[in-house]
This record gives sequence, C-alpha cells and structure tokens, in this order.
Amino acid sequence: MSDADSAKSPYPWRMDDLVSLCTRRGFIFPSSEIYGGINGFWDYGPLGVELKNNLKAFWWQRVVRERDDVEGLDSSIICHPRTWEASGHVEHFSDPMVDCRACKKRFRADQLDEAGSCPAREGTSEHDFTEARRFNLMLKTFIGASEDAAAVAYLRPETCQSIFTDFRRVKDASRQKIPFGIAQIGKAFRNEINPRNFTFRSREFEQAELEFFIHPSEREKWFAHWLEERQRFHRELGFIAARLRVRAHTADELAHYANAAADIEFLFPFGWQEIEGVHDRGDWDLRRHTEYSGKDLSITDEETKERFTPLVIETSVGIDRTALALLVNSYEEQTLPDGETRTLLRLPPAISPIKVAVLPLSKKLAEPAQKLALELRRRFSTFYDESGNIGRRYRRQDEVGTPFCVTYDFESGTDGRVTIRERDAMTQDRVPLEGVQAYLRDRLEIVL
Ligand code: GAP
Repeated sequence: MSDADSAKSPYPWRMDDLVSLCTRRGFIFPSSEIYGGINGFWDYGPLGVELKNNLKAFWWQRVVRERDDVEGLDSSIICHPRTWEASGHVEHFSDPMVDCRACKKRFRADQLDEAGSCPAREGTSEHDFTEARRFNLMLKTFIGASEDAAAVAYLRPETCQSIFTDFRRVKDASRQKIPFGIAQIGKAFRNEINPRNFTFRSREFEQAELEFFIHPSEREKWFAHWLEERQRFHRELGFIAARLRVRAHTADELAHYANAAADIEFLFPFGWQEIEGVHDRGDWDLRRHTEYSGKDLSITDEETKERFTPLVIETSVGIDRTALALLVNSYEEQTLPDGETRTLLRLPPAISPIKVAVLPLSKKLAEPAQKLALELRRRFSTFYDESGNIGRRYRRQDEVGTPFCVTYDFESGTDGRVTIRERDAMTQDRVPLEGVQAYLRDRLEIVL
C-alpha cells in the first residue's frame, strides 16, 4: 500500500505493520520467498494454517453440519475441459487489459486509478496505454504426455462447477429433494492481471461455495434468506456494522451467469471491498451442462409431477479474503498505562490459531506445567513457552490472538491452582488445576 493509500485508511495503524506481523509471526508470507517470491501466491505458516482451518471449519459447521438441507462435496480441481465451455468461462471469463508502451507494465483497464505514475516516460508521469483488449483469467495446464491442444485443461477459476456436474449424483445418493444445497471448500485459480493488497487479490485462493437448488417460484425468498444468513455469519466473526455492508450489483456489472447479485463488503484499510458474493444464477449452469453433456439435469417434482430445471442461489466467500478481514478487524496497537505499546489480535477465540498458552513462571516449574500442557493439548490447540520474562511471553501471545494464558507459579504445587489470564481485558482468575479444562471449554464454546 502506498503512503497516499495509508493516509486515507480508516484504521489508526498502517497496513504494512499488519503485513509485517503476519510475516514475522508466521501467519502469511510470500510463496517461494527465497527466490524473490511469485506475484499473487502466498504461503500460510504454522499460525496461518490454523487460522484458516478454523475459519473453514466454522463455515462448514454453519452451512453444512447445522442444516439438514445442505450436503458436502470435495471435487477434483481439474474438471473435464468441456465444463468450462458449458459454464461460459472460455468465452466470457476475462478482464479488459491495457499495456503501457513506455514501462511495459500491464493493468486492468477498469482499475486504472490503481496504476500510479509511469516510471519510464520523460517529461510526463502519465502512462502511454494501448487500446484495451480482453484477457481470459483461466490458468491452463496440460494433461497426459503430449502438450497438444487436445490435452489442454484448466485449473478451476471457481469451485462450484463440479457441484453442477455432480448435481444428479449427489441428489440421488443423499435422497435430497428441492430445495437443497451442495457445499464445497477448495482452491480456485485466476490469472489476475494485477494481484495486489497482500492476499486480497491473489492468483491462487480458496473459496467456500454453496449452490442452493430451488423451485423457480421461490427465487426471491431464497436469495433474501441466504443474503441474511451470510451477513449473520460475518457478524458472528465480529465484523461490526460500520465495517460490513451489502452492495447490490447494477445490471452492467453482473457476471455472465447471474440474474441478480449482491456483494458483502468489508472495510479494509484500502477501502470497501467484496469478501463474498451472493448470486441468483437462475438455471444457467444446469441448463448449459444439460446442453453440453447431453445428460438431462432437470428433475420431476414427485408430488405435482412437474418437470423443471432447478434455479440456483449461490453464496461464494473467499477464505483468504475473510482471513485477511479477520486480521484487519482484530489488529490493535494499545498504549498501556506504563507507556508500553501492546499489539494484539482480538480474534474470536474459536478462530484463534492457539487457544491456550501454558507458561510456567520459572523453568524450575517445567515438569508440572508440561504435564498440564499435555493434558490440554488433547482438547485445545495449546502452546507451551518457558523462556523469557512473563510479561514478554504474554505480549507474544497477545500479538497472535491467543485468548487465554495459563500461568503455573510457585504456589501452584501447594494450592493446586493456576492463574488464567484473558487476552482482551487482561483480567486474571485463579482456577483449580482440575477445573482448567472446563473453564476453557465454557469460554471457548460460546465464543463467536
Ligand atoms: N462462483 C462464483 C464466484 O466465483 P466471485 O465473486 O468471482 O464469484 C467469489 O468470487 C469470492 O471469491 C469473492 O467474493 C472473493 O472473496 C473470492 N475471490 C475471487 N477472486 C479472488 C482473488 N483473485 N483473490 C482472492 N479471493 C478471490
């Protein structure tokens, strides 16, 4: 982010500070870093992978497990290439692109305000743009030994197409009736012209998508239902009203498959940006796959005997974008009464990578403290740290969002109690050793 951007940021800290925390503490860092990185690709380190897994588990819990009208799927990333002809991606999935003749950089023609000044032109800082042309965002690969056109395949640009091609199989196997949904979490790939804003626009990312199949008479009802459900999910993550909004798409910005769409947007340091899309895809996908595969994907209502192609309401959330929104939303730099700065991530405890840190006051107390850590590890993501002064150890946990620290001190051996410190209020409770699990369970279960 440039200085000009950070000057406009609604947050009292710089995006660079959060990026630096993510790198330093092993949340997220550039992929292939030792080779100078690769633009648009990121690696999630030990804490990042826990954060992301917790977020995905929470989505799966709310969208799949808690409902009897949604089934899960984990399909292959590479599908039959005809899938992408049927879906319209070969023909339509492109962004307008321009080149600067002077500095040779590429930009999205619809985002030229992000282009900045041209470093290569004398006497002017303006770029010398070519005419805009379409650039297909799908990443290609080859299947099998020959690299001829017959073997071309695509890395999926959205996870949902297999949900449509597997629709009949999943419906029959699960004995579901309309209305019902199929959900999946997985990697998607887009050859973005201009990846930027840390992980926000990447070339490899994860989506959590739900395709909900309905009768044509109920499209408004289900669109409204899922738009509300999905906002509730983001509110549960702690995104307050001032940082969350819904923006309906105008007719000219609708994707090729959508009849109506609304973005759920989060207020990032670089402005309001989409984290989730809710789309009315109509019968576009099932109709097109019926046409291209020759397999009829319409259904018969058992009661009315009506034959129809179900319509689809889709919810599609970016896991990486939501993880970034969670980091932005929870990052805080506090000045304490003693003048010291405390950096903390106020992550919802259920999403925090580490739930509890066990900290013996002295290395001499390592044995009983390690025993406690071993017990806690069976139930909670637990971190053990015996080095450095206790204040510094608390700060290290605050910085990565650990909601509870358990301190084993010199009295613990005689009174059988430990001190549990809470991250946000920094309050401390003295709790019997045998009550630690229950104490944490009570506070970690409510959470979100
Ligand atoms: N199946 C519908 C679909 O893919 P989309 O609005 O293109 O819709 C859905 O993408 C979500 O996927 C977005 O709201 C965003 O969170 C995430 N996403 C899309 N492109 C992304 C990118 N280049 N980097 C990171 N996340 C991305």
